[in-house]
Amino acid sequence: MKIVTILGARPQFIKAGTVSREISKNSALREIIVHTGQHYDANMSDVFFDEMNIPKPCHNLGIGGNGHGAMTGQMLEQIEMILLIERPDWVLVYGDTNSTLAGALAASKLHIKIAHIEAGLRSFNMAMPEEINRILTDRVSQLLFCPTRTAIDNLSKEGVDHWSGDPTCLLVGDVMQDGAFYYSNLAKKPSGVETQNNFVLCTIHRAENTDDIGRLTGIINALNEVSQQRQVVLPLHPRTRKILADSDLDTSQLTVISPVGYLNMIWLIKNSACIFTDSGGLQKEAFFFEKPCITMRDETEWVELVDSGVNFLAGADKEKILAAFEGVFSITKNYNQAIYGSGCASQNIVEALINY
Ligand code: UD1
Ligand code: UDP
Repeated sequence: MKIVTILGARPQFIKAGTVSREISKNSALREIIVHTGQHYDANMSDVFFDEMNIPKPCHNLGIGGNGHGAMTGQMLEQIEMILLIERPDWVLVYGDTNSTLAGALAASKLHIKIAHIEAGLRSFNMAMPEEINRILTDRVSQLLFCPTRTAIDNLSKEGVDHWSGDPTCLLVGDVMQDGAFYYSNLAKKPSGVETQNNFVLCTIHRAENTDDIGRLTGIINALNEVSQQRQVVLPLHPRTRKILADSDLDTSQLTVISPVGYLNMIWLIKNSACIFTDSGGLQKEAFFFEKPCITMRDETEWVELVDSGVNFLAGADKEKILAAFEGVFSITKNYNQAIYGSGCASQNIVEALINY
């Protein structure tokens, strides 16, 4: 069975690190990786392939850094050409990026079966490019691999049982949980970064925060205030770096570092006191490593974390972020909940692909 996997952005490499390893264990499966090039800096791409032993992409399209339409359109055209040559049994896509949508659209037009990992997630915010990408990808997929019960319910409410194409929804668990536990023991301190006791770890990259100067100002002002009490370590996404460089915002109080590889990131998570983020993946990793998480968004797809009292939605308002931080250590938290399955998501996915 031939699988073409479409990757393009950092979180997809991290998820593929775990799933591709599982695919490679089965001699009946052959995986061809296509890298769209959406993320292209060495510390946003190569580092993950190297550290996680992800097979080198067979095709690298080099399409990154454009507007959404141009990027998605160029990917669609080039992925179609590759699929016409490779003729796979399955196209495997992850998450909700432009690379995900381009891969799913290209496959659907050629009537190639699509398997979507992280299906069924919804923010219910159609202003997010990710929400559009994930809804459209789900709609054309044959196998919908859901990480949570909520994802299954979301698809059910959208009438998945009556969709033409008769897709199969499976609750498989979260592949990031498999990866976090597998790589946990390999975590290593980033070289050249001095961390103080009880530092907090922060990431910011969402378009809704970076492209709205009011929201970005609220976030940076809040972090500056937090930095009066604790060191704030901020591995900065290139999107945010560029926008901050063009702004008047002062980040000199923060420990701003370049994006780090996954093993460094796990070290930072494990050694931090708490996490501030607008990342999807990092919200879950905070839970896996039992760190409180302040999510600087107005909503999240990972609602179970908020409902179970380990993740605090604070938006981008300075006072709300600081209020969340003030209470974060005193609230009793229960991390002993199997929200994301039993650590076998990748195995479940490979079995489902074989048995379909
Ligand atoms: C993308 C995804 C987002 C995901 C994030 C993970 C979409 C619509 N968004 O957002 O869902 O959470 O990846 O990190 O697909 N850049 C570089 N070097 C790189 C990569 C990006 O300089 O290696 C800069 C470029 O200026 C680029 C900008 O960052 O224009 C944004 O990159 P892009 O891939 O468009 O979106 P992300 O914000 O990374
Ligand atoms: N991450 C990383 N290095 C960094 C920042 C993040 O390895 O400098 C990891 C993080 O631990 C998580 C993933 O990248 O596994 C999340 O990706 P990102 O926040 O870019 O995207 P999202 O999950 O929001 O789509």
